[in-house]
Parts: sequence; structure tokens; C-alpha cells
Amino acid sequence: MAISPKFLNVEGVNKSFISANESKTVLDGISFELPFHDSLAIVGPSGCGKTTLLLIIAGLVEPTGGSIYFQDTLVTAPNRKTALVLQEYGLFPWKKVAANILLGAKLQNIEVSEQRLETLKNELEIEGLDHLYPTQLSGGQRQRVALARALLLNPLLLLLDEPFAAIDTVTREKLQNQLLKAFQKREFSFIIVTHNIEEAVFLGKKIIILGTGRPSIQSVIDNPGTGRVGYRNQPAFFELTAKIRDILEEVA
Ligand SMILES: Nc1ncnc2c1ncn2[C@@H]1O[C@H](COP(=O)(O)OP(=O)(O)O)[C@@H](O)[C@H]1O
Ligand SMILES: [Mg+2]
Repeated sequence: MAISPKFLNVEGVNKSFISANESKTVLDGISFELPFHDSLAIVGPSGCGKTTLLLIIAGLVEPTGGSIYFQDTLVTAPNRKTALVLQEYGLFPWKKVAANILLGAKLQNIEVSEQRLETLKNELEIEGLDHLYPTQLSGGQRQRVALARALLLNPLLLLLDEPFAAIDTVTREKLQNQLLKAFQKREFSFIIVTHNIEEAVFLGKKIIILGTGRPSIQSVIDNPGTGRVGYRNQPAFFELTAKIRDILEEVA
């Protein structure tokens, strides 16, 4: 598939919700670009509109103003080249792991060879879980199943909404490493929404800090050091996490 030079452009997006007859602005003047095979982390305090922004980019929520262009096309509905991984895993509890992994591909009539499936399961360390139900898995395993399902769709854009929020720190870092490796092996861009500063700095080549003030974007930070597992132990990593913590303390 040809990749447009304007891969993802978010242009002046606003979103207001009406509640109790009052209009409440959640997102204001959001603009950014995401190139192909690049990563973006969006951090911000709870309630600042991170999930709403991701759903707008996915074509699931309509913005009040502004536009999203994905591959030069105005986003007005979900598209097959954008995959979404939610905080709550999005797995069907009554389906076994094997069926949960294949569900999205089946819905989109994507042929998945046995070999590709096995390779992906090995990569994410979820082999041997096929006959279990999601409730029999740990949080980390569930989220890897959700990630496998999204990757089987061959997305060009992967949107992740606090995917590792409910997972303990050690497992969480392992999952972040797996996501990074999966990204480096494949051709897609991803946006990860998180309120975890270390996660944002580890995974986002660019980091956007959202606040509750107007406009929503408080800061945009380039993070050229991302992309290596060892980055977590480097001075640049600590400096950047400290800087973002300072900004967030002011905007929260
Ligand atoms: N469908 C909706 N109707 C009304 N208000 C909403 C709706 N979705 C989100 N909101 C409000 O928008 C704000 C931002 O929500 P959300 O995007 O979930 O924030 P975050 O993911 O950053 O925690 C919250 O105050 C939330 O209550
Ligand atoms: Mg949210």
C-alpha cells in the first residue's frame, strides 16, 4: 500500500460535550502531525481528553471542530488501517484466547497463516494459552492477546489507550519492550496515550503534554533517545521524565 507523505495530520481539533444544558470544552485547538513509522506519546492528567482524542483519530467520535487526515483522507469513520487497543483489553470473556486473537482478522476477512500466527504468539510470549478464557489470564497476558489481535490486522496506525495501566511495573516494562520490538519489526506508526511519564518517554519519539487549560496542548517535546531498551537507564531519560513531571505539575 502506498504511504502518503502526509501520514496523519490533526488540524485544529476541538471537542465539546453538552451536559446539563451546558457545553463543556474538553479538547481545544489540537494540531500535530505524525509521520509514517514514527511514534507519539500523549500524556496528561485524568479527564483532560486523552481517550476522546484517540477516539476522534480512530473515527469513532466526531470532533466539534477541526479535521483529521489519515493518508490524505478526511477521517469521518473507522478505517481498516487503524487499529485500537483499549485499556480494558476489549476481549470477549466467552471466547477462548485463540478465537479472541483471530476475531478482528476474521471480521475483516484477513487470511492469517498458521505460521504467522505462531510467530506472533512466540514474539509476544502468549503461546500455549489458546484454550484458556480471558479471565484465566493475567492482566499482562490479556493485554498481549489484545496487542496480537491488533497486529494481525496489519495496521498502518496503532492507537493504544493506556494499554498497560492496570499492570504491575515489572510486567509493564516488559510489555513496553515487546511493543517497541513489534514496532521496530513492522511498518506502522503508533500513538500511545498514558498518564505514566516513564512510559511516554520510553515509547514516544515525540511527546505531547495535554492539560485542562486552553489550548489543550501545553508542550510538545522531541525525544530522539527513544528506541532502545537501555534508554531507561540513561541520564537523558531521567532528565526528560523530570522535565515532563515539572510541566505536568503546573498544568494538572
Ligand atoms: N460521551 C461523553 N459525553 C459527555 N462527556 C464526556 C463524554 N466522553 C468524555 N466526556 C468528558 O470529557 C472529559 C475527558 O474525558 P476523557 O477523554 O475520557 O479523558 P482522559 O482519557 O484524559 O481521562 C471528561 O470530563 C469526560 O467526563
Ligand atoms: Mg482515558
